[in-house]
Amino acid sequence: MKDNIFLIGFMGAGKSTVAECLHKCCGREILEMDQVIEGREGMEISRIFEIHGEEYFRRLETELLLELQERENLVVSCGGGAPLRSCNVEAMKKSGQVVFLTALPQTVLERVRDSHDRPVIEQNKNVDFIAGLMEKRREKYEAAADVTVATDARTPEDICGEILEKIKKFQN
Ligand code: S3P
Repeated sequence: MKDNIFLIGFMGAGKSTVAECLHKCCGREILEMDQVIEGREGMEISRIFEIHGEEYFRRLETELLLELQERENLVVSCGGGAPLRSCNVEAMKKSGQVVFLTALPQTVLERVRDSHDRPVIEQNKNVDFIAGLMEKRREKYEAAADVTVATDARTPEDICGEILEKIKKFQN
């Protein structure tokens, strides 16, 4: 059964918040990829990057996504870099729908400004850098997406409503 929902998008696109909302409204179990990886490795993402490097972290993401092919009724909040590997996207599509959450660079900056757990942007928290990286990734995100939902200046409930409406057609 292909009933999982994979939330993808740039850091700060609102994946965790929207996952929480889909959990509350639909009883889906939340799987936060970063949290699972942190739990397994016994350290924070930024420390994993520091000690083992980004490539190691990317392998952990792929391993986890392959495992999720066997699971159901999940809302998966994917790490922002997860859709960059095509094998990851293939794994997502085997068990569910891929929902691309978008946000403008300024919105992302506001949402991530006060947290320090994202090594990819930690030293470059400014609109230009965020816009540049987002642009580099856009094609991959768009290619992975079954549906796309904008999140700027919207409530999580509103966003969830649009997601549920749009994925209906895949579930009938
Ligand atoms: C990353 C996004 C992060 C986390 C890691 C790398 C990325 O997840 O997986 O820091 O490359 O975009 P969030 O998108 O949940 O912040």
